[in-house]
Amino acid sequence: MQIPFNRPCFTGKELDYIADAVKVRGHISGDGYFTKKCHTLLEESLGVKKALLTTSCTHALEMAALLLNIQPGDEVICPSFTFVSTINAFVLRGARPVFVDIRPDTLNLDETLLETKITPRTKAILVVHYGGVGCEMDTIMDIASRHGIAVVEDNAHGLFARYKGRYLGTFGCLATQSFHETKNFHCGEGGALLVNDPQYVERAEIIREKGTNRSRFFRGQVDKYTWVDIGSSYLPSDVLAAFLYAQLEARDDIQAKRRRIWERYYDALDGWAQEQDVKLPTVLPHCEQAYHVFYLLLPSLEARQAMIAHLKALGILSVFHYLPLHLSDMGRMFGGQPGDCPVTEQLSDRLLRLPFYNDLNEDDQRQVIRGLQSFKDWP
Ligand SMILES: Cc1ncc(COP(=O)(O)O)c(C=O)c1O
Repeated sequence: MQIPFNRPCFTGKELDYIADAVKVRGHISGDGYFTKKCHTLLEESLGVKKALLTTSCTHALEMAALLLNIQPGDEVICPSFTFVSTINAFVLRGARPVFVDIRPDTLNLDETLLETKITPRTKAILVVHYGGVGCEMDTIMDIASRHGIAVVEDNAHGLFARYKGRYLGTFGCLATQSFHETKNFHCGEGGALLVNDPQYVERAEIIREKGTNRSRFFRGQVDKYTWVDIGSSYLPSDVLAAFLYAQLEARDDIQAKRRRIWERYYDALDGWAQEQDVKLPTVLPHCEQAYHVFYLLLPSLEARQAMIAHLKALGILSVFHYLPLHLSDMGRMFGGQPGDCPVTEQLSDRLLRLPFYNDLNEDDQRQVIRGLQSFKDWP
């Protein structure tokens, strides 16, 4: 029996809600009954001005770039240690990426380097809360407001996590969520844009609805709808929203399960990790994390690769994560060079993510732990 890295998990209500959307509501295009239920749940539980479901986090990021009016030549700062969508959405509008290194403890953007990257062309700072552990938002928001620069939180990993008691996704003028099947809450493929600054609410609705004021028309605020701005089709079918609502409703149960799994890994591996010079994740005391990933930092790339092979031979799938964006083919076209982000370059080679999904049972988790501890061929 293989232990996968991820397995999409279900609460049991997904198909009932989908049947309800299809048979009872009879509305399965976007912005139906379940989309509105998801919007209200997100707005009320997080305290955001507006939540809008999207077809992916990637699309929510594209909406953010459109809302901020990113133009060719604008500079956008973001960590090199992130998924390509974080910055690609802005590069699509003509922005130049400016990559910044990460902190060696949390693997989040190093806020002490931020100010050195700001120029008169900087239009936005993109922060990524890696693993759902908050970036240093007090410092970042202070720097951004002193320079008059927008902050967008790519919160793909961090729904319902907090920094100093405040939910991630509520700091930047805009924030994005992912509901891809690898995330804590999912609908296969999906996302959301969270709007904290009210000046963006109306235009966000327009951009999401092909550049039309259809949302206002449906609310009876205009007697016909028309093309008023640029936009695209960023809203998901209500079938997906029905699936997602079942997951969001079960958020406390899901998070409690994930917390138990995360803590079991941590407690079981702490002593072994210290003996083997392996580092476990750091969660600073003022951060309540989202329990999205459990990773190890092995002593070297060779040790990481050997461990992946060792676990694979035992039927356990473990995986690395982001490759530094500044050293990708596209990153190099924007001038990225080895040595630009030394912490990212080092830690990306050493990082290993362990199997982690809501239904990972104790026996399988013990097998993963024993598998790690049975590794003797340290290079
Ligand atoms: C930090 C980050 N941002 C954005 C995305 C893209 O999410 P989606 O697949 O919903 O577009 C991912 C995907 O894993 C991610 O890790």
